[in-house]
Amino acid sequence: MTKIKKANVRIVVVSAALALACALFAGCASSQEAPSDAVAGTETTPRLMPAYHQKYADDTGYQCYGCHGATDRGNPNARNATAMPDGHYVNNDPSTQELDPIRNECRSCHSVDPNKEMHDDSYYEEAEEETGQHGSREE
Ligand code: HEC
Ligand code: HEC
Repeated sequence: MTKIKKANVRIVVVSAALALACALFAGCASSQEAPSDAVAGTETTPRLMPAYHQKYADDTGYQCYGCHGATDRGNPNARNATAMPDGHYVNNDPSTQELDPIRNECRSCHSVDPNKEMHDDSYYEEAEEETGQHGSREE
């Protein structure tokens, strides 16, 4: 019994020491590759775009902000879209309706995952209608 208790105590001590080491050396990031300049200032991995978004990624006629951004209509502008984190805006405040400049190039951080399915196509088509976005073919 006492042996087990001692072992447990030792594990706790070792974990605490590891946690401290991680805190000192900026998060045990040695096994991860260094982030590119484009992601400087963000701690987490950008969410991948669902497969349907390939055409939005390819065609800059589609405005990411037009669906995902805060406007006078609401946040996000398209009812079906995912709101951007507050940190994407100036002063961390969506009511500015202004992107922090580091967030301007959505496509440089967010990639398409061809295997990521979210809602079915009609969900996006609805958002396209709602925001009047049909890509560059109508511009
Ligand atoms: C026509 C509207 C529209 C446009 C344009 C658009 N999106 Fe989206 N996006 C959506 C909708 C709607 C969803 C949510 C789908 C769902 O919930 O099933 C979504 C989902 C996402 C997600 C996944 C969020 C999550 O929770 O995993 C990301 C990331 C994303 N979009 C980024 C972008 C980027 C970057 C662009 C520009 C290249 C863009 N979107 C252009 C409507 C749009
Ligand atoms: C510098 C890299 C970077 C840029 C540029 C960027 N994002 Fe993000 N985005 C992230 C990261 C990282 C996250 C994860 C949350 C966080 O750390 O803030 C995120 C989260 C999101 C989410 C939330 C997904 C969810 O499920 O909550 C959406 C939507 C999104 N971004 C859309 C956009 C759009 C649209 C643009 C362009 C207007 C954009 N992002 C520009 C890095 C970026």
